Amino acid sequence: MYQELYSRFLAARPGIQHFACHSHHYWPDVTREAMLEYWDDSAKKVDDKWGYLFSEKVPQAQRLIAKNLGVDDPERIVFAPSTHEFVCRLLSCFDPSEPLKVLTTDSEFYSFDRQINRFSENPKVQTTKIPVEPFETFHERFEAAIKEIQPQLVFFSHVFFNSGLVCDARRLSAAAAGLARMTVVDGYHGFMAVPTDLSTFDSKVFYLAGSYKYAQGGEGCCFLVVPSDCQERPLYTGWFAELADLDRYSGGVGYPRKGLRFAGSTMDLSPLYRLIAVLELFQSKGLSVERIHAHIQKQQGLFLKALAEIQHPLLNEKNLIVNDLSKHGHFLTFRLSSVEITESLQGRLHQKNIHTDSRRERLRFGFGLYHEGPYDLSALKGL
Ligand SMILES: Cc1ncc(COP(=O)(O)O)c(C=O)c1O
Repeated sequence: MYQELYSRFLAARPGIQHFACHSHHYWPDVTREAMLEYWDDSAKKVDDKWGYLFSEKVPQAQRLIAKNLGVDDPERIVFAPSTHEFVCRLLSCFDPSEPLKVLTTDSEFYSFDRQINRFSENPKVQTTKIPVEPFETFHERFEAAIKEIQPQLVFFSHVFFNSGLVCDARRLSAAAAGLARMTVVDGYHGFMAVPTDLSTFDSKVFYLAGSYKYAQGGEGCCFLVVPSDCQERPLYTGWFAELADLDRYSGGVGYPRKGLRFAGSTMDLSPLYRLIAVLELFQSKGLSVERIHAHIQKQQGLFLKALAEIQHPLLNEKNLIVNDLSKHGHFLTFRLSSVEITESLQGRLHQKNIHTDSRRERLRFGFGLYHEGPYDLSALKGL
């Protein structure tokens, strides 16, 4: 049904069962034309391209993202090459000479986790990580910690990268409202995968995501949704922030009122072209996030059915991390007993042309739009 949209990637990788879509989703064919369009625009406009990019392409991408996420004002969205850049920019809003209490989870992606670990070497920074598991009690425990710790910064993922579990980000952001100075939701595994309506979240939430995964536009195009009327003044600030009207320029450094408040500086915008091409393709095909999600859920069901028939000693329901399959991310995670066993199984799967990925002792199987119909998992027998 959707495979024809991916004909080039599929043709380039014949015979491969690709289950790492949650890591690097194949790019739809339209992204190739988008790359060429960027090249042509660069040739035609040279230095004038920046005016065109900021007046046409950036607003186009902002509108498409805003529509998929229920963002009222597309100008609240700002772009950067990585989420790590935004993580640093957000952290730079806090005065390093002042005490800082951070509340997060034990399952944040390395871009935040490594950075906050380094920040926490400063004795003034106190970071508390709430374990995501047992997931049945996660929300209550996280909410209780917000009340008890009264953190200035609350940071959590919508979909956890090491399990695919989906938290109720609306509920947690509401719990932090009025207590935390800054709440950040890492939506990287949620954007274009799990239906998300930011208009129902607390209005002060920052939302981070990127195009590398389910938006299928490849690397280099991350974005941050900045709350309306944000007054934060990131210390780590780039000159692109000067591209908008500055609210209170008083001889010091002024900041724009909207998303550009969190802007960096010169970046390659070809990934933006790819993202626009994919989001427009989805729009033209009526492929809403809800429809994409429904397709993936169907494929996950078919996969688990095929797996049950194999009766694999490791890849089975007992080792599957799942809470509610109807509210799960786009990959399934099996928890094995050691990193060595996981890496060895991943390697043997790879030899059979079954591509997965792993995070420590967790093996992840991701599902994409180019998966169609029942799976043949017979290659797993005896592995
Ligand atoms: C939850 C999450 N956040 C962010 C990222 C990407 O981070 P960065 O753009 O800093 O490489 C990933 C990548 O896999 C991720 O899983």
